[in-house]
Amino acid sequence: MNFDLSVIPNKNIILGVTGGIAAYKSAILVRRLKDAGFNVRVVMTEGAQAFITPLTFQALSGNPVHTQLLDPEAEAGMGHIELARWADLLLVAPASCDTLAKFAAGLADDLLSTLYLATKAPVWVAPAMNQQMWAAKATQRNLNTLVEDGVHVILPDAGVQACGDVGLGRMPEPEDLALQVTGYFHRAQRAIAEKFGLLAGKHVVITAGPTREAIDPVRYISNHSTGKMGFALAASCYAAGAQVTLIAGPVSLDTPNGVRRINVQSAVQMLDQSMSLLDQGCDVFIATAAVADYRVAEVAEHKIKKAGDELNVSLIKNPDIVATIAQQEKRPFMVGFAAETRNVEEYAAGKLVAKKLDMIACNDVSRADIGFASDENAMIVFFAEQYHMQKRDLEKASKQEIAQQLVEAMHDALHYEAKDFDHD
Ligand code: C5P
Repeated sequence: MNFDLSVIPNKNIILGVTGGIAAYKSAILVRRLKDAGFNVRVVMTEGAQAFITPLTFQALSGNPVHTQLLDPEAEAGMGHIELARWADLLLVAPASCDTLAKFAAGLADDLLSTLYLATKAPVWVAPAMNQQMWAAKATQRNLNTLVEDGVHVILPDAGVQACGDVGLGRMPEPEDLALQVTGYFHRAQRAIAEKFGLLAGKHVVITAGPTREAIDPVRYISNHSTGKMGFALAASCYAAGAQVTLIAGPVSLDTPNGVRRINVQSAVQMLDQSMSLLDQGCDVFIATAAVADYRVAEVAEHKIKKAGDELNVSLIKNPDIVATIAQQEKRPFMVGFAAETRNVEEYAAGKLVAKKLDMIACNDVSRADIGFASDENAMIVFFAEQYHMQKRDLEKASKQEIAQQLVEAMHDALHYEAKDFDHD
């Protein structure tokens, strides 16, 4: 079957599985949650283990399965309090009447009921049971208590039940549950973005301007980059709630408000600073700098004296900063720029792949009205294939407006990375 899930990175779900025939559906649910990018740890009650083995969940989640409250081995690794803290969501599916009753009463006589009391994470339950048990006054009373206590109840579907009865009590399909969970995290992220900005909580590092490659103590090789695009992006990222560090080559621009600036001269210095910022934790790396492709092989110690009609200076290749950062194990979301004079889209798409970027913004610098020293720009943005996002045309506008649209593109790719899943 084919269905769309939007990937949510770096969120942790504890899936509580209790005793019921619907426990087999939870195995598929683990796969769907993993597909959606969640880290999943499964906690099983004793009843659940009568229907399905911990080994199945271990294999599907890629994590050890937790079955006991005070298992010395588990407590030495991730004990029940760590587990409770680890969770961004506690999802109990299927939730039996017994577990619902324990939650409602505040009992803590097994791992799952203890986690319920110990976690600060939101709790969702997907009750699944015989229709008569679902309708029982005690079950409904417990559910009302849970709703009052802030638990989100996913109502069961109606239909033919395993016992032959017809009525309410079937656990919704795993795909449906996974979509509800991803939808919840998307809404939460959107609410944060609306309140605190599109890049709230992110550390963004931006390289900007030209580099200056010394020939001797008074001369250098450089280019016409003014750094305007990078500085405009730094201002936009800061306005979008990010913590921003700007690694700037020699430019005559004021540091945007709230932005931390590190001045460098050469490409090698720019790379050194980029690498050390990576160690400090960087979520998004934006390379707007026009880095000199070559530097002088041997910088003269003293000013080179005028002599003869020719002077030969031997050049060696500079490191590719953005490509180097993209190769690191803990790589941030990587954004590159491409300034081309022809075959703009083709060259940019090639660089996206060759440099292993997540996103690239390209412009046609042969156009006199936009680009380098201009205050305006027009760009086309491409995303890496795994995002399944359409390219975006950013019409000619001020560099500040273009920067704002680039921030939106980054936010969309960071949070709404869409994937097609082809499931068996
Ligand atoms: O290969 P090209 O210079 O066209 O690639 C442009 C992109 O690569 C820009 O994002 C630029 O900042 C980055 N780059 C880099 N280090 C280099 C050369 C380019 O980070 N040495």
